[in-house]
This record gives sequence, structure tokens and C-alpha cells, in this order.
Amino acid sequence: MRSAVALVVVVAALAAVLAACGADPAPLPPGDADRGADVFATNCIACHGPDAAGSPNGPPLVHELYAPEVASDEQLADSVRHGVPERHWEFGRMPRVAGLDEQQIADVIAYVRARQAEAGLGG
Ligand code: HEC
Repeated sequence: MRSAVALVVVVAALAAVLAACGADPAPLPPGDADRGADVFATNCIACHGPDAAGSPNGPPLVHELYAPEVASDEQLADSVRHGVPERHWEFGRMPRVAGLDEQQIADVIAYVRARQAEAGLGG
């Protein structure tokens, strides 16, 4: 009997944890592309290259694969938060970028969107 009660408690706790994980994260704050340029230069340029045009270490983000109608801002933010397995290219995986707050993530995405728009992607 006691173990049945324990089981119910464990199941309830697991359900609570799962519910918390599934909860929608807060939406990104509005981003600023100029501030994002600094975030990009510090955290992304080594792999994604000047103007997000790619480098020997990583793919261009100014690319149809990542255009706004294909990859949402939230998807781009998740790549920064969690990293990405190697999937579309052959540069290996992208490690998660630690130490950025949500505003910095929004800013760097605004920067990438601005470079994409200049190249005629999206909008
Ligand atoms: C150590 C190298 C490295 C750094 C640093 C890096 N990336 Fe990446 N990133 C990659 C690689 C490699 C891929 C491609 C993975 C694949 O699809 O094969 C990638 C893919 C991405 C993608 C596409 C993810 C998807 O949905 O497929 C986005 C968006 C991205 N990076 C943004 C960023 C931003 C923004 C920064 C800086 C905050 C950053 N990356 C820093 C290596 C890097």
C-alpha cells in the first residue's frame, strides 16, 4: 500500500516537471541590430564569418535555410541557447553559446535578420 502511494507521488512529480518543460518560454524582447553586431562579433563571427556570410569554421546564416519564412526567431534563439547537431553542413556541431541573456539573443537575431534582408532574404 505504501509503495502505491509513493508511486502516485512520483508520477505526480514527474508530470509537474514535464508540464514545466513544455511551458512556452517568454517571447523574445524586441531586438536591436546595432547592439546585435557587437554580440555577433564577440560570439558568432569566428564560425559564421563577417556579415554572417560564413567562414571555414561554420555556415553562412545569410542563407535560404535560415530565412524568416523557414526558421522563426524562436528557432534561431534555440540554436544559440542549446547548440545544434551537425545536420545541414559538414562543420561539426554548433556548441551552445553560454552567457547571453535574452536581450542579447534577440539583438543578435535582429542583426542576422538585417544581414538577410540586405541579401534579399525574407521580407
Ligand atoms: C564554434 C562554431 C560556432 C559558433 C561560435 C556559433 N555557431 Fe552557429 N552554427 C555552427 C555550425 C557548424 C552550424 C551548422 C550546423 C549544421 O546544420 O550542420 C551552426 C548553425 C547555426 C544556426 C542554424 C541552426 C539550425 O536551425 O539549423 C544558427 C541560427 C546559428 N548557428 C546561430 C549562431 C549565433 C547567433 C551564434 C553566436 C551567438 C553562433 N551561431 C555561434 C557553428 C557555430
